[in-house]
Amino acid sequence: MAAARFDPAGPLRGSLRPPPDKSISHRAAIVGAMGDAEMRVDGYLDAADTRSTIAAVRVLGAEVRELGASAGAPGGIDLAIGGIGLRGPAEHAPGEPLAIDVGNAGTLMRLLPGWLAGQPGGAWILDGDDSIRRRPVDRVAEPLRAMGAEVEAVDGRLPPLRVVGRPLEGISYRMPLASAQVKSCLLLAGLLAAGETTVIEPAPSRDHTERMLRAAGVELASAPARTPVALRGRLPGEKITVRAVERLALDHQPVPADFSSGAFALVAAVLVRGSEVTVSGVGLNPTRIGLLGILNRMGAGIEVTEGLPVAGEPRGSVTARHGAPLTAVRVGGGEVSLAIDELPLVALLGCFAEGETIVSGAEELRHKESDRIASVVEGLQAVGAEIEATEDGFVVRGGGGLDGGTLDSCGDHRLAMLGAVAGIASRDGVEVEGFEAAAVSYPGFEADLKALLGA
Ligand code: S3P
Repeated sequence: MAAARFDPAGPLRGSLRPPPDKSISHRAAIVGAMGDAEMRVDGYLDAADTRSTIAAVRVLGAEVRELGASAGAPGGIDLAIGGIGLRGPAEHAPGEPLAIDVGNAGTLMRLLPGWLAGQPGGAWILDGDDSIRRRPVDRVAEPLRAMGAEVEAVDGRLPPLRVVGRPLEGISYRMPLASAQVKSCLLLAGLLAAGETTVIEPAPSRDHTERMLRAAGVELASAPARTPVALRGRLPGEKITVRAVERLALDHQPVPADFSSGAFALVAAVLVRGSEVTVSGVGLNPTRIGLLGILNRMGAGIEVTEGLPVAGEPRGSVTARHGAPLTAVRVGGGEVSLAIDELPLVALLGCFAEGETIVSGAEELRHKESDRIASVVEGLQAVGAEIEATEDGFVVRGGGGLDGGTLDSCGDHRLAMLGAVAGIASRDGVEVEGFEAAAVSYPGFEADLKALLGA
């Protein structure tokens, strides 16, 4: 396990184009493989997680040509994907179950079964690293089974996941949690199912799959979901309906820079005196940028410039600067899913904000690459934070900043990068154990951070 040290430093100044969006890259590889003509992906994320998706679709029979580093997208490669067609996996399946290694990629583990479940004649076993083996898959297995799929998990809930292709029937499914991965899985299964498949989400979650499927010619009906009494007061999620199609037709998918990766530099700029950082070319899909509203309420200096959407995804740039003292904030309800991957950064911001920052309704964090309630709380406590875990979030008593110490990434890429930002904003520096995990989504993170520090 490699450790890296991040000493107090700053200011951070300049601009940065973060690496390509991880969520959109996973989807581009899968949708490209589902097509039957060649699809070009401009600026596909070249990182461990999305490499797992390239490998997986190759195992299924897709031909993925790597065309080299992407000119406009640092950290990205251009791809040409020769798809096998929507019903291709069964044709390419050998007699015995085909093994697919998803590595650390939860999105791949949850999305791919949706496509495979409706392929009579094929069988697959999806497995991954130790972290993946701790992350629940019953959330996709149960609704897929209700559609007629044959899906088996360890103890009914953990990978490896065995999928045997069967004819599927559409269902109407009210998701118990706002998960883009579950929603996407069921929409992919719906492309192969008889009748209509409807997914109702309790709160909004990222909608990249819907946007990409529409671009590929699929008619998706969507409307704000009617919210059950217990959930009133939250932002409404969507009710989305899909029917089977013959084929997908998408010849080109550009990928914006990843807001979630850029968020580390933005938060570093907010925390370190004298800083001003612009992240450019980032996706500004409203289902992804909950952090901006949170930063705004904390009193951080943030400016957003929205450009024209590219291939149906809003893009633009965000500037963050150090300024007025931060005030504590409460985050909960429908806002949680809009900032789900940035909540570790909210905990860090809370350490520097006057008052009590409270995140609630975020039980989902326990099922990420690590139990992110435990790993964030223990990691920040170890560097001097006054933070306590709750069942569904955390409470931070802020204002004192951080002394420093050693933070364990727990093999989680977002924890590794959180530790780095904590270190440069701390008084004595932070040693991040297992820093190499950052390469899951952002291999160039340390170099980009150093460039902004002028180091
Ligand atoms: C993702 C969805 C989110 C997010 C993950 C990527 C996706 O998970 O945390 O990093 O690409 O669909 P859930 O929506 O399932 O919580």
